[in-house]
Amino acid sequence: MIIYKKTQEISDWLRIEAKNAKTIGFVPTMGALHEGHLSLIEVSKKENDLTVCSIFVNPTQFNNPSDFEKYPTTLENDIYLLEKAGCDILFLPQKDEIYPDGFLKKNYTLGYLENIFEGKYRPGHFQGVCMVVDRLLDIVSCHTLYLGRKDYQQCLVLQKMTNEFHPNVFIKTCETKRTENGLAMSSRNLRLNETERKTAEVLFKCLSQIKNEANHQSLDLLLNSASDEIVGAGFDIDYLAVTDEALIEITHLTKGEIYVVLVAATINNIRLIDNLIFTAL
Ligand code: PAF
Repeated sequence: MIIYKKTQEISDWLRIEAKNAKTIGFVPTMGALHEGHLSLIEVSKKENDLTVCSIFVNPTQFNNPSDFEKYPTTLENDIYLLEKAGCDILFLPQKDEIYPDGFLKKNYTLGYLENIFEGKYRPGHFQGVCMVVDRLLDIVSCHTLYLGRKDYQQCLVLQKMTNEFHPNVFIKTCETKRTENGLAMSSRNLRLNETERKTAEVLFKCLSQIKNEANHQSLDLLLNSASDEIVGAGFDIDYLAVTDEALIEITHLTKGEIYVVLVAATINNIRLIDNLIFTAL
């Protein structure tokens, strides 16, 4: 694996050396890599001549400074895992490479997606995500961008951003990787102690109950009882909701339509999100 730290170097390499690569797959990350990231690398490798991964903990997407400071970094292990996964190129920029002119704000038009769910609880977060991915896509000219569905709203937001600014980039979303007991893989799980990790399994359990019962029972009742269970386990809930594919909240299901049940909850200052996608019977 070749590691580039400079924007100019990776851009030149991709333009000159990689011109024979018919397709380039790109997996942007903030490091602290886990099986979820590695599954994106694996899919990209199957589908492309070249796979590029980036590791950059993007300050502009953290609305909470302590979340940024505490964001786990495991660089040595990340490099080891990427080598093992057969990633071709790692882009490892410093802040100045990504934001050479400081944090110049470009306003991305994200519509309602900006103010609901993650947008509501993390003001400015999606502008920061768009800012960094827009810049990364200028540097790493790829054909396909690989994203994990755990960040469902991020996938919708980045689809909107790429439609406008990188219309030739195809976005492929991949399934959430989970532990044996269903906990969604996340870099933030590294901050959970053993007890909290066990407790956090309640999120998947409750999402699964709602998904499995949604066709037979009132959504309100299901959401209320899941919410009681999650709070009872020690979490503070930001949101727990059932929505359509576009993240519009719904009150009843229509046969054959696709829905998302999603949650964000915090335990001991560690905020976790998860979702399940299902089709109404
Ligand atoms: O999902 C993430 O890890 C980040 O939001 C991303 C897409 C790498 C942008 O910093």
